[in-house]
Amino acid sequence: MLRDPWGPIRYVLAATVLANTACATGTGTVVTFPASWRFNALEAPVTAHRGMVVSTDELATRVGVNVLRAGGNAVDAAIAVHFSLAVVNPEAGNIGGGGFMVASLADGTTAALDFREKAPAAATHDMYLDAENQVTDQSVVGHLSSGVPGSVSGMWVAHQRYGSLKWQDLLEPALELARGFEVRARFIGSLTPSMVRSLSRFPASAAQFLPRNGQPPQIGDTLRQPDLRATLQRIQERGADGFYEGETADLIVAEMERGNGIITLQDLANYEAVWRKPVSFSYRGHTVISMPPSSSGGATMAEMANILELYDLGSLPWHGHERVHLYAEAWRRAYADRNHYLADPDFVDIPLERMTSPTYAQERAASISLNAATPSLDVGPGMEAPQDRINTTHFSVVDELGNAVAVTTTLNSSYGSKVTVNGAGFVLNNEMDDFSAKPGTPNQFGLVQGENNAIAPGKRMLSAMTPTIVLDPEGSLRMVTGTPGGGTIITTVFQTISNVLDYQMNVVEAVSAPRVHHQHLPDQIFYESGGLDAETVRSLEVLGHRVFERPGISGDVQMILIEDGLLSAWSDPRRGGRAAGH
Ligand code: GLY
Repeated sequence: MLRDPWGPIRYVLAATVLANTACATGTGTVVTFPASWRFNALEAPVTAHRGMVVSTDELATRVGVNVLRAGGNAVDAAIAVHFSLAVVNPEAGNIGGGGFMVASLADGTTAALDFREKAPAAATHDMYLDAENQVTDQSVVGHLSSGVPGSVSGMWVAHQRYGSLKWQDLLEPALELARGFEVRARFIGSLTPSMVRSLSRFPASAAQFLPRNGQPPQIGDTLRQPDLRATLQRIQERGADGFYEGETADLIVAEMERGNGIITLQDLANYEAVWRKPVSFSYRGHTVISMPPSSSGGATMAEMANILELYDLGSLPWHGHERVHLYAEAWRRAYADRNHYLADPDFVDIPLERMTSPTYAQERAASISLNAATPSLDVGPGMEAPQDRINTTHFSVVDELGNAVAVTTTLNSSYGSKVTVNGAGFVLNNEMDDFSAKPGTPNQFGLVQGENNAIAPGKRMLSAMTPTIVLDPEGSLRMVTGTPGGGTIITTVFQTISNVLDYQMNVVEAVSAPRVHHQHLPDQIFYESGGLDAETVRSLEVLGHRVFERPGISGDVQMILIEDGLLSAWSDPRRGGRAAGH
């Protein structure tokens, strides 16, 4: 403990458990969810010994398990899941977006693959500002909002290094799904009335996703995507060249010309995913391996974890005001640094080592008071000197050998730019909005970011995606986790880890538990509807926090927990994905 004005608090909550609001943890303590919380977490996790896949869509999960059954490794399964999600989860799964892969291999090595989109060569610092210097919506919707897609290069580069099954075979399930899959509630849910209006602006999007006279398909309909199938076939035959060159590239550029977009054949030919050194840090004796910049996820989570490790969180009541206060104080400091310093490391010098060091966390923690919130305006970046209709998706895979892969991939908003490439059948991202279109003003996630993350040709926009793997003190695999959620991704991933390591929750509890969020600016704690009780909210307000209830915090965690060789997994009940074992 750094300091402890709450005294030697040792809450071992009563063993009298309210049937649907509490969960027994491994150590005999009991964590109680508020009575108003909507998930009970009493279901048994999905378990297996030989492999596990968990994703936001049952069909994609099944594809991954079949690859494991056919003798594929975790990377093979991840590639097949990624392409399948591009078909069955088109609001986020993609070939027109980008993402990150973190891997921990059975031979003890780790890897991080950056397939984040890049700004086209014709992009400029102020390209989204109008004559009054205001940010327009062109960074969010339409052709100009797209970065050069990275996903196909990412899958190709991952396969070149780690793939054991044939590339062609890994594409086959996605091709089959593109021939037609049965529409379920999971898919219909993405086509809200406002989404239908947005997609209707772009004829190829309307033709693909609104096949009933401009309206969504109905449950039980078969959704056929022949143009997407043809594109996947070119990728199957020619690898990354089937996307970045030839017919697909020509169709992308023709689409750009139709809508005043700026991605060129040269931009596509120049794109390549890059291997980076994962961010690695220690939390409660465990090793956390996560994504380095151009994601902010690993570095920001390292700073918050290093600060919070100075406190004995496990001795505080779970989701009591003391714990939420400490979370908020650590998070506001970590996000202040994130928003100021982090950006594409190929363009900007980043103080990564310092930001992720325990010594720096001690300096940052020194200004935390246990009796009062620190206003965010008093918390600048520590070295010298944001929300949304988010749609990103995460999946986690572990194979029989103990290889683990965490992938988070995105179009940014749901259905990205809303533009489907005519004749190629896939949606383009609107990732350009993750840059600081106007440094110092919020983006669609409310994130207020600085000049380091300003737009420049060929630069990768800063991300919050945080695919993460945790090893236990002996170095064995313990967790694979990640989530969508824009600016909330990092705090959501951290909470899943803290729920297990500080509160000994099982995987169902850790994923289903209500979550809170703070991101420096706006200076507010958000909590999921029903996720904090009234007394906790009042106590936080007494400390000076502004506390707001939100319908949800947009997460969709896909988590695998490993204990004594047993894999247990759970897909976030907030959206309805599926885990399946081998
Ligand atoms: N587009 C969301 C993120 O990368 O953080």
